Amino acid sequence: MLRAFFLFLARQEGFKNFALQFRIFRNTASRFVAGETLEEAISAIRQVNQQSISATIDLLGENTQTPEDAESACRDIMTALDRIEAERVDCNVSVKLTQLGLALDTELAFQTLSRIVERARQKGNFVRVDMEDSPYTQRTLDVVTRAHERVDNVGTVIQSCLHRSQQDVINLLQRKIKIRLVKGAYLEPESIAFRKKKDTDENFVKLMRMLLSSDTYHAIATHDEAIIDATKEYARSQSIPKEHFEFQMLYGVRRDLQVRLAKEGYRVRTYVPYGLRWYPYYMRRLAERPANVWFILRNFFKD
Ligand code: FDA
Repeated sequence: MLRAFFLFLARQEGFKNFALQFRIFRNTASRFVAGETLEEAISAIRQVNQQSISATIDLLGENTQTPEDAESACRDIMTALDRIEAERVDCNVSVKLTQLGLALDTELAFQTLSRIVERARQKGNFVRVDMEDSPYTQRTLDVVTRAHERVDNVGTVIQSCLHRSQQDVINLLQRKIKIRLVKGAYLEPESIAFRKKKDTDENFVKLMRMLLSSDTYHAIATHDEAIIDATKEYARSQSIPKEHFEFQMLYGVRRDLQVRLAKEGYRVRTYVPYGLRWYPYYMRRLAERPANVWFILRNFFKD
């Protein structure tokens, strides 16, 4: 219920303008967002790298309304790729296709993504295409598959909350496309998604096993310790080496667990978002955990 409410608010510009007036709202966002500038993001990535953890950088932004905005996002992401190389940080990039124009025109998103993937290829880097809500699932998979036919340094994300995901995993595995497995951060209709958390979690474990058993390098992205333990256990039981996959987690969430896994010799990558357009991302993080909301409410009247 609370989750649905916050995911609804994530789409409301009016609430955004209201909430931004409050310092506590802006200040707590900094727990999940590395900063508003690329400089701040690079500095956060350095700190992450110092703990033997890789990073993936995300220029915040989604649902771009004009081709000019898509072009501007493309240029900023290519600048980020240049800086990653110049600063010698261990980091790849994550992008959202609606930021690159998918809501306007699929071809525009494909062409824009292709330029980013090509720049990343020249630099020996990798591009992960995040998965957005279900109206974009098929188009995202189509665009990524097409881009992957040209060069293979592009992968995508599968959400275990969707009924269709097992078949999508089978299709992507056939093409050796790298997958980041997540539970799913959007509110989806009951007709296409699991309603109960238990079912999403069970599907996650099933898909995790399919990924680990394949010959492609994938990412298991969750902060759920039971699922992380199940992943470690499955890898051990099948003699799958630690270098064959990685764990991924979000900036500002379970840093203790990230460091612990890295110390145990697992590959870990932190998702580092930055930029001015942090509102919807932040609201999705609040929706994931009621404790985050209570923290804000408790401090609200002190503001
Ligand atoms: P779950 O929600 O069950 O949480 C397990 C535990 O983790 C909680 O009990 C709590 O301790 C901790 N936790 C989780 N979220 C927290 C938060 N916000 N604040 C504090 N603690 C928290 N989704 C998507 O739809 N498309 C995408 O492309 C991506 N990309 C992506 C990249 C990476 C690296 C990660 C880690 C996640 C995503 N996600 C995503 C988000 C994902 O779908 C999911 O919403 C979150 O990871 C939360 O789910 P968990 O798997 O952590 O489990």
